[in-house]
Amino acid sequence: MGRLQGKTAIVTGAARGIGRAFAARYVEEGARVAIADINLQGAEMAAAEMGESAVAIHLDVTDQGSIEKAIGEAEERLGGVDILVNNAALFDLAPIVEITRESYDRLFSINVAGTLFTMQAVARSMIARGKGGKIINMASQAGRRGEPLVAIYCATKAAVISLTQSAGLDLIKHGINVNAIAPGVVDGEHWDGVDALFAKHENRPLGEKKRLVGEAVPYGRMGRPEDLTGMAVFLASREADYIVAQTYNVDGGNWMN
Ligand SMILES: NC(=O)c1ccc[n+]([C@@H]2O[C@H](COP(=O)([O-])OP(=O)(O)OC[C@H]3O[C@@H](n4cnc5c(N)ncnc54)[C@H](O)[C@@H]3O)[C@@H](O)[C@H]2O)c1
Repeated sequence: MGRLQGKTAIVTGAARGIGRAFAARYVEEGARVAIADINLQGAEMAAAEMGESAVAIHLDVTDQGSIEKAIGEAEERLGGVDILVNNAALFDLAPIVEITRESYDRLFSINVAGTLFTMQAVARSMIARGKGGKIINMASQAGRRGEPLVAIYCATKAAVISLTQSAGLDLIKHGINVNAIAPGVVDGEHWDGVDALFAKHENRPLGEKKRLVGEAVPYGRMGRPEDLTGMAVFLASREADYIVAQTYNVDGGNWMN
């Protein structure tokens, strides 16, 4: 029997990358999963690949109406929500003297407000249902320390770690565990975009930054989305009932705390 047999989950930003791998693994573990993404076509393709246990839902985490509609739709189609993975996020890069308000507002709106208000909507639903639940926020090693060029993204991920602590402490009385995962560098379309931004700002050939960050990981390579799924299943399972308000590094040894 799967470790999430009979459970239901919403994974935001699951049309591709890490979220998609989480959704696929949750299905393998016996859960029914809503793939909630601003890219509905991508979400539908991902859901089709995962079979009957996955449904695609349109969600824009920057829009309160969209959050409420999507959570309502997930509740209806799945019959209540046991697990939320707050995974949708955006990256940007610029030196401090070139950061724009537009970039700041966009990243904070998705990475921080999106995480908070999706968590709030799902927590309300879980409290009303009275069965508790598990909420997993996606932080990052970027939230553990600043980086030149990455000020806004790092600040958003530090905020995710802080929100996880406050929400974890506040919601455990309802039997809702809130924890976070802090990945290091995970290969995929996201990092292709990051690599291109570093190429521009650090005047490097395409692919060089990716190679360098991979070589610097103590494990010896960049992560793959599948490297993170074990932690995502564990934190969503009954085995994590006594774990509250924590952020776990899953990064091949990049960060220790
Ligand atoms: N890839 C890495 O190296 C890495 C490292 C540390 C942390 N993370 C974090 O892990 C998570 C997943 O990363 P990834 O590499 O899979 O990213 P990704 O860019 O591949 O996927 C992000 C997904 O979020 C969706 N999305 C974007 N804006 C949205 C919105 N407004 N509403 C709903 N969905 C939206 C996108 O359509 C996409 O499917 C993110 O929170 C990211 O910050 C990634």
